[in-house]
This record gives sequence, C-alpha cells and structure tokens, in this order.
Amino acid sequence: MSSLIASPRTAIGTAPSAYHLLLNRHAAIYGIQRTFAGIGKRYNSSTPGDNSKEFFPPPKAPHIKQVKTAWVHPVYTDEQMRAVAVGHRDAKNWSDRVAFGTVRVLRWGMDRVSGYRHPAPGQEHLSRFQMTEKKWLTRFIFLESVAGVPGMVGGMLRHLRSLRGLKRDNGWIETLLEEAYNERMHLLTFLKLAKPGLFMRLLVLGAQGVFFNGFFLSYLISPRTCHRFVGYLEEEAVLTYTRAIQDLEAGKLPEWEKTEAPEIAVQYWKMPEENRTIKDLLLYVRADEAKHREVNHTFGNLNQAKDPNPYAAEYKDPAQPHPEKGLTHVRTKGWERDEVI
Ligand SMILES: [Fe+2]
Ligand SMILES: [Fe+2]
Repeated sequence: MSSLIASPRTAIGTAPSAYHLLLNRHAAIYGIQRTFAGIGKRYNSSTPGDNSKEFFPPPKAPHIKQVKTAWVHPVYTDEQMRAVAVGHRDAKNWSDRVAFGTVRVLRWGMDRVSGYRHPAPGQEHLSRFQMTEKKWLTRFIFLESVAGVPGMVGGMLRHLRSLRGLKRDNGWIETLLEEAYNERMHLLTFLKLAKPGLFMRLLVLGAQGVFFNGFFLSYLISPRTCHRFVGYLEEEAVLTYTRAIQDLEAGKLPEWEKTEAPEIAVQYWKMPEENRTIKDLLLYVRADEAKHREVNHTFGNLNQAKDPNPYAAEYKDPAQPHPEKGLTHVRTKGWERDEVI
C-alpha cells in the first residue's frame, strides 16, 4: 500500500517526516492518494482531490480494508437526474389533508430553525433571503437527520407485526429500511462538508426525540396517513434541493463550485469521474428524494395489511411500466393501486 502513496519527495531520496507518514497511512486506509502538499487524489481518479475535511475519520482497524454495504444503490444517469421535477399530489381525503397540513406546519418550523426564507418574486436580491453554503448545509443536516426516521419506524413496526402475527410482510420492510439507510447516507455525506455546532446537535437530538415518538404512535394508528405524510415531506425535500441547485447554477455558492463530492458519496452513488461536483451530488440526493416521494405516495394508495410491495414485485408482464428501484419510471404522485396490484 505504501508504494501507491509514495511522494515525489521520497522519489528524490528525502526521508518523509513522521507527520507525513501518518498522513499517508490515514490516506491509505481511506483510499485517497495524498501528496505531501496535502492535496488528496483518489486511486481511480485523475481529478484533483478530496478537499472535504474529515470530521469523522474511519476507526483504526489494521486488518480491515473497507466496510461494504448490503444495499447497493441503483445507478442513475445524468439525464434521468436532471429530469426530476418539483411536484405535488393533491390531497383527496381527510387523511391526506391531515398529512399535508402536518408537513406545512413542520416546514414552517424548519424554515425558522435553519434560517431559510424563500423570497417572493422580485425580492430575490434582498440580503435576508440570501443562502450561503453554511446555511444550506445546516438545513440539509437537520432535514436528513429527521428524514432517516420514518423508514426505520415503518420497517420496524411491520417487522414486529410479521413476528407477532406469524404472517409474511410481502416485501415492504426491506424497502422501508433501505429508505432509512439512504437518508442516513445523505446525512453522513453532508456531515463530511460541515461540522455542526453544539446548538445544532441539541436541535437534532430534540427533533429526533419528538419525531421518533410522534411517528411511532402515528404509524400504529394510521400507517397509510404516515406514508402520505412522508410523500408530502419528500415533495418539500425535492423543492429544497432544487432551490439549492438553482442557487449553485446562478453562481451564488462559489465555495461549492471549487469543492469535490466527498469520497463517501463517490462510492455510494458510484459517481462517474466527470460528475463529482457538489452540484452532481445535489442531483443524486434530489433524485433519491424524488424516489422516496414516489414510493411513499404509492404506499399511501395501498391496502396496508394485504397488498404486496410493488417495488419488490415481479410483474406478469414486465414490458408494461411498473414501479422499480431506479429512475426509469418516475411518478411524482406515486402509482395508483389498480395500476400495480
Ligand atoms: Fe434525504
Ligand atoms: Fe427522502
């Protein structure tokens, strides 16, 4: 491994210092080629390095090369990700209205916490509406720390129901747990770009305490309303990332134009070498949120007790468009029950 990270300095016969050896050892564990100038470079990349800071470096484990995931992310094409759009499913009954109303209230609260104010047309230039990289990251970290809860609660409760009811679940649990895992990967990725302060950590802690228990009780009462709620929450997430992408494209976030996506993101999304900017990263995250929006609106259309999971199903006519993990068929409002069951 050490030969892979030999520096120009060692090549001309100067012995590296203990500090540089330590740096190189850390880089070797993390799969980054690092020169003595401190500029990281991936083994499989010709683009200059990972300039994100390591707020949670990997634990020291001399015998372990890397930790692999059980849930391999589907590959998205650039074209598919750019086609993702903001959208809304109209509330059709009281359950939908309760779900949508709750999301509106939460959105208002989160906008206040993360310092986000969306300008009315013509007010975009006012300083109180300007978002910086730091403000966006605060918002993302808070959003993602909450977003990882519903899938885990839904998956856990369906798992327990299957155990105590001595009956099968028909594929919902895996999709819900995978969603929770995907949201946690979003959080870990953004934590590579910003280190939250004590206030933010306390907010995350408090929000989880309230949200986990609230969602847990709500899921026991009406899982259908809960999936609709997550569908609406994901509509907001797609909107948030779309606005961040627009800010980046408008040149309002110059720091991110120079920053490369963290290694954890490159590996998880299998980001191609030419598409590893922060804008690419936001396109991947937004596409994931669009998928959660579709999955949860679809789940909200189903019979919770009896219907199989359309995302884990093998269809009698595979040529017909049907729900699947990738972005081949994205339905902003989800699939109706009679289309998929
Ligand atoms: Fe997310
Ligand atoms: Fe999401």
